Parts: sequence; C-alpha cells; structure tokens
Amino acid sequence: MRTLALLITVVLAGTAAAQDKVVNIYSSRHYQTDEQLYAGFTKATGIKINRIEAGEDALIERIRNEGARSPADVMITVDAGRLWRAEQLGLFQPVKSKLLESRIPANLREPGGHWFGFSQRARVIAYNKNKVKPGEIETYEELADAKWKGRICMRSATSVYNLSLMGALIDHLGEQKAEAWAKAVRDNLAQEPKGGDTDQLKAVAAGQCDVTVSNQYYYARLARSEKPDERQAAERLGIVMPNQKTWGTHVNIPGGGVLKNAPHREAAVKFLEYLASDEAQRYFADGNNEWPVVASVKLDNPVLNALGDFKRDRLNVAVLGRNQPSSQKIYDRVAWK
Ligand SMILES: [Fe+2]
Repeated sequence: MRTLALLITVVLAGTAAAQDKVVNIYSSRHYQTDEQLYAGFTKATGIKINRIEAGEDALIERIRNEGARSPADVMITVDAGRLWRAEQLGLFQPVKSKLLESRIPANLREPGGHWFGFSQRARVIAYNKNKVKPGEIETYEELADAKWKGRICMRSATSVYNLSLMGALIDHLGEQKAEAWAKAVRDNLAQEPKGGDTDQLKAVAAGQCDVTVSNQYYYARLARSEKPDERQAAERLGIVMPNQKTWGTHVNIPGGGVLKNAPHREAAVKFLEYLASDEAQRYFADGNNEWPVVASVKLDNPVLNALGDFKRDRLNVAVLGRNQPSSQKIYDRVAWK
C-alpha cells in the first residue's frame, strides 16, 4: 500500500513503568483519520502515543534490526500475509484478551493471539463496462476461462495481495487446481504485470484490458477522488464481489499485534483493545474505505454502501500466511512475475 518509506524520527520513551503512560507504535498506515484515532486513545486512557511510520516491509526490517532493544510496543501493518511473515520472524508475543476475542470475529485474527485484524478489505473483480456485460464474470475461477485471453491486467505475483489471494485459492481448490488457475490467468494476461492495483484499474478504464482484480479501496479512492479524470475512470468500471454463490469474496485485513520485546506491554494491549472500540473502528476502517471488523459498527461510506452487503470468505486469515510459501512456488512455476 505504501511503498514510499516515510521515516519520522521521534524521541521514544523506552522506560517501562508499572502503569505505562506511553506506548510506541510502529505503523505503515497513514490516513487523515489516524490523528483522531490516536487522539481518541490518549483522551480515553491518558496514555501518550509515539509513532514511527514506515513502509510495510521497512517496518518489519526495522523491528528485526532493533532486536531485543526495540522500543516498539505495537506494530500495525496491512495484509495477513505480511503479519504472518512478522509472526514467523518471532516479532510478536501472544495476547489473551477477552475483549479482543469477543469483538473481532475468530477468522479475522491469528488463533494464538499473535495478531488481530482491525478492518476488512475485499479483493474484487473490476471490468470495463463498455466491454463486459454485468454477470459475465462472477468468480475468480472464471478469470482462467479462455474467453479472457489477452483481456486481463494483473499486478505482479510478488505483491502480498496476490500471494494472499492464491493462499485462499489453494485452500478452496487444492494446490493442483490453484496452479492450473494461475497458469491459465497468466496466459490470459494482456500485458506483463506492472504497477499496483490503481494502475490495473486505470488500465481497465482506459481500455488497455477488460478486467482485473483489485482491493476495493483503490476503486473507492478513484470514485471519491478530487481529480475529475479519476472519477471518470471509476465510472467506467463495473465492480463484482466474486464467488457469492460459492465460498465468498476473498477478504484480507490490516492488523497488528504486541511486539515480543514491547517495553510497555500493558499499554500495548490497551491500544489494541481501543482499536476494537466503536469509535476507533470507524476511524480505522473509514480512513481507507474499508469495512470494520466489529459487525455492529456501521459506516456511512457512499462507495462501500453502493457495493452493498456481500458474502465473505470465512477462511481464517492466518491460512493466507500459512499458504504463502506454496503460493509463491505456484506463481514461480507458472512464470507469473
Ligand atoms: Fe494497499
């Protein structure tokens, strides 16, 4: 999501006290609503927040390099695949919280409490309304159909979003069928993978290809853009929530966990619990045009409302991480760059 590493140096208070009055947060999120989110936590608890913001992978590297002396208490980043990688590197410690367990659905958090999802994004199919009729494509599986030969744009398979999508396909179809799917979709590509999700959406809107997959918030950003050409691009796109009649649309999460060497563990858990509150859920999800994880929290987001209610994949997001090595191998074998 954020490839540009934005490093803000702050003075971090590293001393742990019986009652932590500070918490150090490493985050790859950076949205307008974040200011209200952080201010809301400090107001509710009296705990001050120090923030370091950096690109997703840079953040993980930084925490690794800091090791046992890391001042970081909480890491917030996007995609279960990336949270899983951080978990594999031993960066998180397990958290047991009745509040988090009751507020966040079980499939949107790591079963051992190492990390928790705090909003939901869907990987949707987008098509050019001048070239594709509504109902012509309804599932991820149909992207493998020969009728789409030379008509699909997709970003690189090294993107964690596509690795996680493959992780879901492996679970639902089995490895063999998932690989056959990847090979067929790769053979249907209109061009070699390049750029991010927004580039794919713009390519479809411009008629360079007819269909793609993208996280819904990139579409929402275009639809709500201040630039008329971006709004026009969004108007040319039809959005499909895939697999409504089968296993549901692939969903993923931004999330976070308490770091293994957190100097302020208690405050860190409080911060995660705050993220699951009604108030924080609204800020966290709406800031990036995503859906809250807490079901009772409703957003007044025009683009998401227009997409409507939809059936979501119930797969535990931790599986997306667990399948990541297999996903990578499949994409490599079919030469999807
Ligand atoms: Fe993103």
